[in-house]
Amino acid sequence: MKKVDVLDNTIVFVNGQFMSGREATVSLFDSGLLYGDGIFDTLCARNGYLFKPDQHLNRLFRSANGVRMEIPYSRQEVKRAILDVAARNMLRDAYLKCVITRGVKYPPTMDPRGRKSNLYIFGLPYINLAEKAKDGALRTKISAVRRTPVEALDPRIKSLDYQNLVLAKFDAFDAGVDEAILCDIAGNIAEGPGYNIFMVCNGRLVTPIGSVLEGVTRETVLEIAARHDIPCLERSFSPFELCNADEAFFSTTGGGILPIVEVDKRRIGDGTIGPTTRRIRDAYADLLESGTDSVKIDYPDV
Ligand SMILES: Cc1ncc(COP(=O)(O)O)c(C=O)c1O
Repeated sequence: MKKVDVLDNTIVFVNGQFMSGREATVSLFDSGLLYGDGIFDTLCARNGYLFKPDQHLNRLFRSANGVRMEIPYSRQEVKRAILDVAARNMLRDAYLKCVITRGVKYPPTMDPRGRKSNLYIFGLPYINLAEKAKDGALRTKISAVRRTPVEALDPRIKSLDYQNLVLAKFDAFDAGVDEAILCDIAGNIAEGPGYNIFMVCNGRLVTPIGSVLEGVTRETVLEIAARHDIPCLERSFSPFELCNADEAFFSTTGGGILPIVEVDKRRIGDGTIGPTTRRIRDAYADLLESGTDSVKIDYPDV
């Protein structure tokens, strides 16, 4: 008897069609595979509600524009497809990914012209990118790998080329810690592989601006800070400042607010999760839980 596994049971969306994860394939000649020539976005759902889909779709379309790629669907159509993937898989707490490549061409040269984009969407039960961190707090290392400068590949573009972020993770694992932090080309703190970063100094939040992805969670943290009267500043800061901060945390769709308690063997604050981080983390969790800023997923009757 044929074995049925998770790939058979998951329903994905490929170029307008729903199919099983097993049926879905990517061409060997897809520019996304050959050159990292594509973009993506990652969303989350909580309790059957998709969190801030318009903000993610706006970023997806900004990324497409950044790499001169046509998305052959409207924002509304892509949103519908993401909601449908969550619904068809009966995912209430979900991690959803939407990937668009420039497409297939043969011979497979780097010439970007004359291709038709491919759109892939899949979902899985919600994952925390930093799940393995002890007590939910991360020990980190500042990587020798730099985040791509705006002049090379603008980090505001959520490009499929995440090679520098992936390489940075090796530095962290080699050092025996949980996660990496990348600096920008000037040596200031930029972000982590999949996370924006914040530090807390004298009760004030500080987060880098410039060579970083415009994170939806980052934006949400800024909104929460404004609501809670926590002063917040977007400015560059050095590794030295981060190591001497009172608190620090990452923000990301795949895990929310993730406290950082160590940077390059220096304890941050007293080495435990600080009060401002806790406040932001709890407020973010409450926001997700409440369904505010979210769109309801319509599940099929079973
Ligand atoms: C490089 C990078 N920075 C920051 C983030 C956080 O962005 P968001 O809060 O929208 O998940 C991500 C998310 O995937 C990312 O890949």
